[in-house]
Amino acid sequence: MGMSGVYGPSDDAESVATVRAALDAGITLLDTGDFYGMGHNELLIRDALRGRRREDVVISVKFGALRGPDNRWGGNDARPAAVWNFLAYTLRRLGTDYVDVYRPARVDPNVPIEETVGAIAEAIEQGYVRRLGLSEAGVETIRHAHAVHPVSDLQIEYSLISRGVEDEILPACRELGITITAYGVLSRGLLSGHWSRDRATSAGDFRAHAPRFAAENLDRNLALVEVLRRVAGARDVTVAQAAIAWVLSRGDDVIPLVGARRRDQLSETLGALDLELAPDDLAAIEAAVPPDAAAGARYPEFVMADLDSER
Ligand SMILES: NC(=O)c1ccc[n+]([C@@H]2O[C@H](COP(=O)([O-])OP(=O)(O)OC[C@H]3O[C@@H](n4cnc5c(N)ncnc54)[C@H](OP(=O)(O)O)[C@@H]3O)[C@@H](O)[C@H]2O)c1
Repeated sequence: MGMSGVYGPSDDAESVATVRAALDAGITLLDTGDFYGMGHNELLIRDALRGRRREDVVISVKFGALRGPDNRWGGNDARPAAVWNFLAYTLRRLGTDYVDVYRPARVDPNVPIEETVGAIAEAIEQGYVRRLGLSEAGVETIRHAHAVHPVSDLQIEYSLISRGVEDEILPACRELGITITAYGVLSRGLLSGHWSRDRATSAGDFRAHAPRFAAENLDRNLALVEVLRRVAGARDVTVAQAAIAWVLSRGDDVIPLVGARRRDQLSETLGALDLELAPDDLAAIEAAVPPDAAAGARYPEFVMADLDSER
């Protein structure tokens, strides 16, 4: 997502090199949305996969978010006809004949989830899609979808400072055998250890409008990062690695999706895979950033109001 405009400008050559370096390092899951840069991100992935075996990579695609030529966001469309239309364009842009995991980016309030999922189930039957996923869905929606076709994975924000999923959603997913791909593991850079008060954001950067980055909340949130920096430093790991390791420790069914957009960020991220943190270390990391310690919601209020997972 950060490679296609949502976090301000990025460099395509560096983005492709980063995806290739991730694949070379053994990363197999690539997550995208057809609306990230209006197809730009899928084209980057196509470029990065050139010359590689398609079956070595798991491509997860979100669809349904509507955009405009001036970059505006215009709601969602998850009607069955839209599912087929989005899927056709995605397959063409990715240069592949199937998507591994296909999911609506948001639950469309105007379309029963059974209808959206019914279309994806048909696409699975016809071989265009391998597995059904959901994103930011709440328990009731997950159960309704699962009754139509088994849901394989739920994508949802989950990090040291975004733990709402633990109350009901994670237990329900575990009951149904649904994995979680956790996004925002670094809270979009806030928990990376590289964010600072004087860092400027461009107008197109989501973080320019995100409550946790707003002036009135940022000092408190960066103070938490400094506590985490001390705990991480005492264990010879970086802040980002501590945050990633904590999500990795949640269970084999929780897969961290880290948004590295440059090779230096990727190497720091990969460092989190080799850490040997004892339960005491993880407890110290968690104590540095207690649940509900963050100031500000994870999205602006009007977005929070539309999230099925927050109902
Ligand atoms: N389903 C959904 O609703 C949803 C929503 C959001 C994202 N996602 C998915 O989740 C993926 C990850 O999300 P995210 O990018 O917000 O996650 P993130 O990993 O929390 O944040 C990534 C950002 O952190 C900063 N960063 C600093 N140091 C880093 C390091 N060592 N490694 C990686 N990043 C570092 C980078 O920003 P700077 O370069 O600016 O410092 C980078 O763009 C997205 O690509 C997207 O596929 C899904």
